[in-house]
This record gives sequence, C-alpha cells and structure tokens, in this order.
Amino acid sequence: MRATVDRPGLDTQGRSPLIKIRRVRKGDLSKVRDVVEQAFLDFYERQMGTRPRQVFGGAQYVHHRWLMEPWGCFVAEEGDGKIVGAAVAVMWGTLGLVGPIAVLPNYQNQDIGQQLLAACQGFFDENKAVMQGLATYPYSPRHLVPYQKFGYRPRGLVVITAKPLDRREIVQATRAARPAVSVRRYSTLEEARKKAAIVKLHRITNGIFRGLDLGKEVEIADGLALGDTLILEKGREAIGFAIYHTPGVSEAPQGSLYVKFLAIDPRHRKPEHLHALLGALEDLAHEAGLLRVVAGVYTYYWTAYQALLERGYQMDLIMVRMKRGKQIDDEDPNDLVLDDWR
Ligand SMILES: CC(C)(COP(=O)(O)OP(=O)(O)OC[C@H]1O[C@@H](n2cnc3c(N)ncnc32)[C@H](O)[C@@H]1OP(=O)(O)O)[C@@H](O)C(=O)NCCC(=O)NCCS
Repeated sequence: MRATVDRPGLDTQGRSPLIKIRRVRKGDLSKVRDVVEQAFLDFYERQMGTRPRQVFGGAQYVHHRWLMEPWGCFVAEEGDGKIVGAAVAVMWGTLGLVGPIAVLPNYQNQDIGQQLLAACQGFFDENKAVMQGLATYPYSPRHLVPYQKFGYRPRGLVVITAKPLDRREIVQATRAARPAVSVRRYSTLEEARKKAAIVKLHRITNGIFRGLDLGKEVEIADGLALGDTLILEKGREAIGFAIYHTPGVSEAPQGSLYVKFLAIDPRHRKPEHLHALLGALEDLAHEAGLLRVVAGVYTYYWTAYQALLERGYQMDLIMVRMKRGKQIDDEDPNDLVLDDWR
C-alpha cells in the first residue's frame, strides 16, 4: 500500500504526477547532484534522527559517472521540467551496475524509482549485460522491495572498511609485506602505452568474471585526475591493480583515499600481493596528507575480507549485494578482489 501523507508530488485529485524518464543532459548535472543529496540526506536523517551536514562524507557520484557512461544516466522529470529523481548505471564489460538511484522525498513511493530502474534495465539489455548488481541497505524493506521486483536477489554482505593511518604502522606493515614486486602508476605511462596496459588489466578481471572490464574506470580516474591506478608488476607482467580516488570531485570521502576496485590476477593470488598493493595505497594516502584508506569488500571474497581485517581495517558500513542474471554465486572465495558496487 502506498503512503498517503506528505506527498506534494500528487496533484489536487491525489493522482501521481506525469513523469517522463529521459537521459541526463549536461545542463542537468547540478540538479541531479542536488536530488541525490536531498534523497540520501532524508534517508540518513530518518535512520539517525538528525540530519547529517553532508552526505557520503563529501564523495561525489554524478559528474564523472555521466562523463564516463552518459547513456547509463537517467532523470525522472515532471511535466514542468522539474527533476525529481535520477539513476546512474554503468557497464563494467559484461557486468552492469546500478547506483546511486534517488527520488526526492516527497515523490517517493509513487513508482518513480521503479521507472528509473526500468530505464537502467533497458540500458543493460542494450549492452547485453550478463549479470547486473548493486549494493543497498540490508535492513530496509523500501530498498530491497523495488529491486526484488526487478529480479535482483539479496546475496552476501558488502563491508565498507576504513583504516586510520598511523605512520609507524604503515612503514612496518609495508616493509613486512612487500615481496619481489613493484608498483607503477598508470598516469606515469606514456600515452602510447596506456592502451596496452588496459588490455593487461582486462586480462586480470576476465580471470575473475568473464568479460569484466574496468578500463573506463581506469581512464576516467586518470583523465579527470580523480585519483589513479596502481599496477602491481612482477618482472614485466601485470599481476594486479588498484583504482583509487582521492578527495575532490571524486568518490573519495573527505580526508580519505578510496579504493574503487582492486584485483589480483587469480594465477598470482597470494595474500602478500594484496598486502603489497594495500601497503602502496596506504603510503600514497599518507604522503598526500590523508587520514584514512577506505575500501569496500564483498564478504564472499573471504580471503580478501580477512586480509583487510588483519591489516587493521575497521568495519564502517554494512550493505548487501543484490544480483540479477546468473543465478549462482560464482565468486571464488580465494580471489583477491576489493569492490563495493556502490
Ligand atoms: C530507494 C528509492 C530510490 C525508491 O524510490 P521510490 O520512487 O520511492 O520507489 P517506488 O515507489 O518505485 O517503489 C517502492 C516500492 O517499495 C515498496 N515499499 C516501500 N516501503 C516499504 C516497506 N516498508 N515495506 C515493504 N515495501 C515497501 C513500495 O510499496 C513500492 O512497491 P510497490 O510498487 O509494489 O507498491 C527512494 O526511496 C530513495 O530515493 N531513497 C533515498 C536514496 C536511496 O536510498 N537510494 C537507494 C540506494 S541503494
């Protein structure tokens, strides 16, 4: 049953407004950001009883995502042109991800979220997504229900962890853990070598999930200086990588280096390789004067999850991964992957 109070979105006869779903245009971006912030501020206020000063600790999701994947970004517009909802989707090769999705508080429970989700599903179909997924709040029926109606099923927990940085500890951990491997920053490669590097990284992700491709995330982090990508090399072979964002107009919360995605080639999946990348990320964060490293992990990747906890990462936020498409849980618990699908 739908709520009947506090719904200025309704017309004088109590009917839902006429809503048009269309793709985001450049001129919409600040409004879309505003809609996302208002919707999440309201949600967190209801959860915590007080309105936070800031949403997502200052992390931004709209502008760069639209530049990266404009065909995956949608708004819900009322007849008079007012933007009342937005959804952002992206293809990582064969994997389609939704989020954030947001509807202005007074327009919620009027089917707008589901219309936006339907647009994202259309985008996934156009791009032949083999699997689709998202991260949401496991305790909230109003989050689980709309996704379930589209065939998404709740699977395991996603834990967003954070490690406060302490210089002495970092140096010790890094020294202890770093084996005979080296780390290179994608941004330092000559332009002519960048495409070849992306192909190598694609080989790594393809070994984790067939067709998984993070190339556009690597390129946007570099192109907009959202952060960078560390490539872990053994001799001349790339055996792992980590895409990270630093604060600014990126997905990193204030004061934090955010690990957007990290993977070790399954043929080289030794925990010390994961530690080598984490050590390098912690050093970078420290050198940049940041206070924390934030990394999300899907708990089905048990070895990676345990490695984070052993390394002093603390649980900050618990979410649930929802999936649609392949019905099996195909994660190998020994694969060393850090991602949160937010
Ligand atoms: C989540 C969100 C996008 C949903 O948008 P919405 O327009 O309200 O969603 P819809 O009206 O299309 O669908 C909501 C469904 O959940 C159901 N629902 C809502 N509260 C519910 C509850 N407590 N128990 C069971 N079902 C519930 C509604 O009845 C509706 O289903 P129905 O169509 O079968 O009636 C919106 O609430 C929002 O912006 N929240 C804040 C930001 C956010 O958390 N985004 C998502 C992060 S993953």
